[in-house]
Amino acid sequence: MVDRKCKLSPTTLMIFILDVIYILGISPANAAIAVADTSSSLSTYIIQVRKPTDKHSSAVEDLDAWYRSFLPATAASSNQEQRMVHSYQHALSGFAAKLTAEEAKAIQEKAGVLYLHPEESLSLHTTHTPDFLGLHQGVGLWKDSNFGKGVIIGVVDSGIFPDHPSFSDKGVPPPPAKWKGRCDFNRTSCNNKLIGARSFLDLNKTAQAIPPYDDYGHGTHTSSIAAGAFVTNASALGNAEGTAIGMAPLAHLAMYQVCTIDECLLSNVLAGIDAAIDDGVDVISLSLGGNHRPFFKDVMAKGAFAATQKGIFVSCSAGNLGPYNTSSTNEAPWILTVGASSIDRSIKATAQLGNGLEFDGETLYQPHDFHPGLLPLFYLKVDDGIQDCGPGSLRFRSDDIRGKVVVCDSGSTEPVVAGQEVKDRGGAGMIFLNRPPDGYTTQVYKHVLPAVVVSYVAGEEIKRYINKTSAATATILFKGTHINGRSAAPAVASFSSRGPNSQSQGILKPDIIGPGLNILAGWPFPLDNSTNLKHAFNVVSGTSMSCPHLSGVAALLKSVHPDWSPAAIKSAIMTTATTSNMEGRPIVDQTLHPADIFATGAGHVNPSKAVDPGLIYDIGLHDYIPYLCGLNYTDSEIELIVQKKVNCSSIRSIPDYQLNYPSIAVSFEPSVTKVSLTRTVRNVGPVKSNYRSIVDPIKGLVSIGVYPPDLVFTEANQTVSYRVDLTREADRKAPPPSAQGAITWVSARHSVRTPVAVLFKGSQE
Ligand SMILES: *[C@@H]1O[C@H](CO)[C@@H](O)[C@H](O)[C@H]1NC(C)=O
Ligand SMILES: *[C@@H]1O[C@H](CO)[C@@H](O)[C@H](O)[C@H]1NC(C)=O
Ligand SMILES: *[C@@H]1O[C@H](CO)[C@@H](O)[C@H](O)[C@H]1NC(C)=O
Ligand SMILES: *[C@@H]1O[C@H](CO)[C@@H](O)[C@H](O)[C@H]1NC(C)=O
Ligand SMILES: *[C@@H]1O[C@H](CO)[C@@H](O)[C@H](O)[C@H]1NC(C)=O
Ligand SMILES: *[C@@H]1O[C@H](CO)[C@@H](O)[C@H](O)[C@H]1NC(C)=O
Ligand SMILES: *[C@@H]1O[C@H](CO)[C@@H](O)[C@H](O)[C@H]1NC(C)=O
Ligand SMILES: *[C@@H]1O[C@H](CO)[C@@H](O)[C@H](O)[C@H]1NC(C)=O
Ligand SMILES: *[C@@H]1O[C@H](CO)[C@@H](O)[C@H](O)[C@H]1NC(C)=O
Repeated sequence: MVDRKCKLSPTTLMIFILDVIYILGISPANAAIAVADTSSSLSTYIIQVRKPTDKHSSAVEDLDAWYRSFLPATAASSNQEQRMVHSYQHALSGFAAKLTAEEAKAIQEKAGVLYLHPEESLSLHTTHTPDFLGLHQGVGLWKDSNFGKGVIIGVVDSGIFPDHPSFSDKGVPPPPAKWKGRCDFNRTSCNNKLIGARSFLDLNKTAQAIPPYDDYGHGTHTSSIAAGAFVTNASALGNAEGTAIGMAPLAHLAMYQVCTIDECLLSNVLAGIDAAIDDGVDVISLSLGGNHRPFFKDVMAKGAFAATQKGIFVSCSAGNLGPYNTSSTNEAPWILTVGASSIDRSIKATAQLGNGLEFDGETLYQPHDFHPGLLPLFYLKVDDGIQDCGPGSLRFRSDDIRGKVVVCDSGSTEPVVAGQEVKDRGGAGMIFLNRPPDGYTTQVYKHVLPAVVVSYVAGEEIKRYINKTSAATATILFKGTHINGRSAAPAVASFSSRGPNSQSQGILKPDIIGPGLNILAGWPFPLDNSTNLKHAFNVVSGTSMSCPHLSGVAALLKSVHPDWSPAAIKSAIMTTATTSNMEGRPIVDQTLHPADIFATGAGHVNPSKAVDPGLIYDIGLHDYIPYLCGLNYTDSEIELIVQKKVNCSSIRSIPDYQLNYPSIAVSFEPSVTKVSLTRTVRNVGPVKSNYRSIVDPIKGLVSIGVYPPDLVFTEANQTVSYRVDLTREADRKAPPPSAQGAITWVSARHSVRTPVAVLFKGSQE
């Protein structure tokens, strides 16, 4: 290393520094700091190497030794145990190692090294839910699916609380023979439900394995959503009482702990995926994500591709960056990308004003002894028009606040933290107002004082009342749990990330929405002799919660159709999704207006229909290569994803919208007037079936022609192709940015719906 450094001329040194900056992912403005650090500080990198073609031995030890051979001499000679972080076997050909920036530079130049990913920090993004989705014991999908029996769901998350009643193995058979995972809890903590448990957080190969206890609760929550057992009398703080059941109550669970409460390191996430593939899971559930990036630089997309290659279904959260468009992550077509919707249960409280107006909202904390009558309201707008009740912000206001109901604006302070500030200053209660983008999506929290979260519109009304009233008063009425408490359910939650797809506009994302707002599921709780379950459940929101709902549904489908590919399962879920709410009206978003296609994808999951879709749109692994060539990725970029050499010039590449996806997304450049594409469906319904196409038109903008308009099947597994012509109608000066329609194949027994999204490029609006 020293030798090499001496030979560098000032120019090469400059280039070197810029490369280092690039590798470290920092801006040139911080260059001085970076340069000062480079020689000594170690950072973790994921080093992707070309898969050996000459190596026949797949023994883990051989692989490990081979990976080590890439380490620069400086790193190899220091304590190797501390430099090698992970050796990957399936999810990616490569390893994670701690390197100085100079070593990183050196390793990048070695033959066979394809790519260096700097370490990255990703973030983690139900008594009632199964009923809401139409899953009732003994009927529908659950009856046909055997409750997911025999299927293994790998949850890559923050660990698990193994003693939770949701992870009881009553009625769960032993794991299938293919299972080769392990359990790092003491023997008694794993059972036929929780069959695997490993931690990748603090991998110290010389020390004993660390049991993946969930210090946070997130992993316990997501696991119990996906495959929790029946637990009667589940409730959180006495609310939302009922029977808690995961989506696939007899499926097996394996936990791969890769996240702490603060972060999920990319190198650990990949290690979790790697182990899940090796262990033999059927479904991987990933309620986490990072930023947008091309798929060849996206480690999660690469790991998911490797899993898909082995027939494993990968379900991911879309992210919580809504309602803004192009905010979805996990956008690759081989991933199921899940957005979040509300359910029909509310844990209700009402803000009642002195003028008699009432505004419904929600809170988990429902005190029974709060009947003070109307109290004075305290709302003091600060300079920027926001009183967010952040810690310490009301400290000089105790005299004004004592015994009053304090109005807090949603700002940068978590609602529960705001409530603590109000409580600390002697406030009697809190009305917490949504921000404009939150709209009518009200989240349930375990508040520390009598409190209610109300919609943005309600907040505006409350402020108007305060503004024009000299002695404004209010109180909070606690109304407990209401089923059918949200007539517009399911509605897209404000935070649910939206499309269009930032990497591949011809693939609609998110794919689907599922329950993610105010979801009751398992939570770590203090184990004592009385085993008080009062704290064994918690209500949490996020696409983190919607993802495991879909992982569970995928497990149910897998148990009914063990031979279906991941793409076939995804197709069944998407083409049977519902686009209307419980009132039979179009699904709305947080504004209570109809949600657009980039919020809902194919619509809301409908598990009992998904089991019997009639037709499926399948995608083979070989189909992804022409697709990736069509994204104009280079051969070597595609190799980073598919882990083998490809030659795009020797195959016919396809535009992304031509992939046999169960939804259609097309963008029209200003000069383009017509786009044609084909789709191929396979008959998985009755052997003799006739389907007729029904088009939901995009009125006045694009005509949708389907050829042939009828499909006739005479055999099982028969495939038939059809063509879709999307033709711009009479030239409009300024089309809207997007529009939506659908094509539905309808037979006597089935209805197979493909949503159609159209983007108009260069439009004015
Ligand atoms: C596991 O069992 C061993 C031996 O019985 C015990 O010493 C240890 O504390 C247990 N660990 C945990 C995490 O319960
Ligand atoms: C790893 O384990 C060894 C042996 O038990 C111990 O000496 C070392 O401190 C551990 N390192 C870390 C980072 O925990
Ligand atoms: C559930 O709660 C009901 C009513 O509170 C009680 O009668 C019943 O025994 C409880 N069941 C269990 C299994 O705890
Ligand atoms: C409060 O009233 C004043 C005067 O009527 C008006 O200018 C202001 O916009 C009002 N503010 C709010 C938040 O309604
Ligand atoms: C459980 O109860 C028994 C008997 O009352 C007592 O001896 C023991 O210490 C208790 N254990 C815990 C963990 O509280
Ligand atoms: C790829 O390149 C071709 C030819 O230049 C172009 O027509 C096409 O739009 C490009 N595709 C993408 C996804 O950029
Ligand atoms: C890729 O395929 C083209 C056309 O078949 C061929 O001319 C070219 O040599 C191939 N490139 C490589 C690197 O194999
Ligand atoms: C249909 O295809 C599946 C999977 O390829 C196969 O298992 C099944 O036997 C086939 N059914 C018929 C009737 O050919
Ligand atoms: C993106 O968001 C903006 C602002 O909300 C909206 O006007 C626009 O229509 C959206 N674009 C698409 C393609 O949906």
